[in-house]
Amino acid sequence: METRTPRGFHDVLPDEVRRWQFIEDNARRIFDLYGFSEIRIPVLEFTEVFARSLGTTTDIVEKEMYTFTDRDGSSITLRPEGTAGVVRAFVENSMHAKSPVSKLWYSGMMFRHERPQKGRYRGFYQIGAELLGPEDPASDADLIAMVWKFLESIGLSDRLTLEISSLGDQRCRPQYKEKLVAYFKPEADRLCPDCRRRLGTNPLRILDCKEEGCRKIAAGAPKMMDNLCGECAAHFGAVREYLGSAGVPYTINPKIVRGLDYYTRTVFEVTTNELGSQNAVAAGGRYDGLVEELGGPGTPAVGFATGMERLVLLHEKAHPGGFRREIKVFIAYVGEGTETAAFRLTAALRERGVPAEMEYGGKSLKSQLKRADKSGAVYTFIIGEDELSRGKVKLRRMETSSEEEVDIEAAPALSF
Ligand code: HAM
Repeated sequence: METRTPRGFHDVLPDEVRRWQFIEDNARRIFDLYGFSEIRIPVLEFTEVFARSLGTTTDIVEKEMYTFTDRDGSSITLRPEGTAGVVRAFVENSMHAKSPVSKLWYSGMMFRHERPQKGRYRGFYQIGAELLGPEDPASDADLIAMVWKFLESIGLSDRLTLEISSLGDQRCRPQYKEKLVAYFKPEADRLCPDCRRRLGTNPLRILDCKEEGCRKIAAGAPKMMDNLCGECAAHFGAVREYLGSAGVPYTINPKIVRGLDYYTRTVFEVTTNELGSQNAVAAGGRYDGLVEELGGPGTPAVGFATGMERLVLLHEKAHPGGFRREIKVFIAYVGEGTETAAFRLTAALRERGVPAEMEYGGKSLKSQLKRADKSGAVYTFIIGEDELSRGKVKLRRMETSSEEEVDIEAAPALSF
């Protein structure tokens, strides 16, 4: 029997969870500030939702999905990302009819059967947001500014680089694809077998190939950024202007490809050089054709997602320590009848909103104080038989070990 997590999956233990919660709390706060509401969607969808959204010739759909046949014979896939499911929910619930703009954020586990390494997992958490409705470049910039504000709020923005580019649209991209094919065709023999196939199916994916040989050839390929139509170039120019006016620091990287096919126009990536090869911390872009592809009315949209594990790894480096749960008060007791008094005092403290923890099973006072110390308690109440008979309890300040007697009845109301 295998009783470990499957390869590429991991637990997040209580001490680490504090840091996760800090990041999640900030995401929630910032997204709220920008008018986004949370949406919760299933962790699995019909396989077709992902195949149609991400593109059948992407690595994710070709090699990385956790797909299985359900008992009724339908093909089901554990979500490899959140955008497709959010758009499916947007269409299924006719959200376009309720408001011209939908701002949705989500978080949860995603599943990709990749080769695990530091910062890359098969089960990983994303937080993401999708802004559906507007085509206006202000919406791209607003979303990117929100991502940056979030990264600032958790103290990471000075360790990160934001790169943007444009992938054009259905008007200029087909011509660009032809240019790419013309560029790669004479080199076909030197491309990997996958890329030779991509030449006929999806030449843009060659730009994303990890094989050294293909990368060398791709380095000299024409860039989408240099082949944008007038509308796409103007849109990109306006996005840049808005970003500038919002004070968001960015650089242009015409080599951004993205591993998913749904993107049009603006794309962006936030990277770090502190996590080795898994350097993408957040990424996203515009996807104006996806809602229609999933059966909805033509609705432009833009969004992003961040990988929680990578954020946490980076956050640990940038801000080590300081994320333990803290208990304010510990309650120790020694002697006959004191356990019940401890139980009551603990309950009374919590009733007043004071985080409190009591000893269970009454060990020696020394070992109880050790546990109190470990819990991070600032104060410890020590209930002894003698004090209790006089209606008193000892209050110990852990830092100084100083002790004083207080009335047990008044104890819960002390200011801690
Ligand atoms: P993505 O670039 O595939 O985009 O993933 C976004 C982020 O998720 C990455 O930048 C990375 O931080 C994290 N990530 C991806 N794969 C892994 C992995 N195997 N292990 C750990 N972290 C990982 C999307 O998923 C799009 N849905 C983003 C988007 C939203 N575009 C528009 N709206």
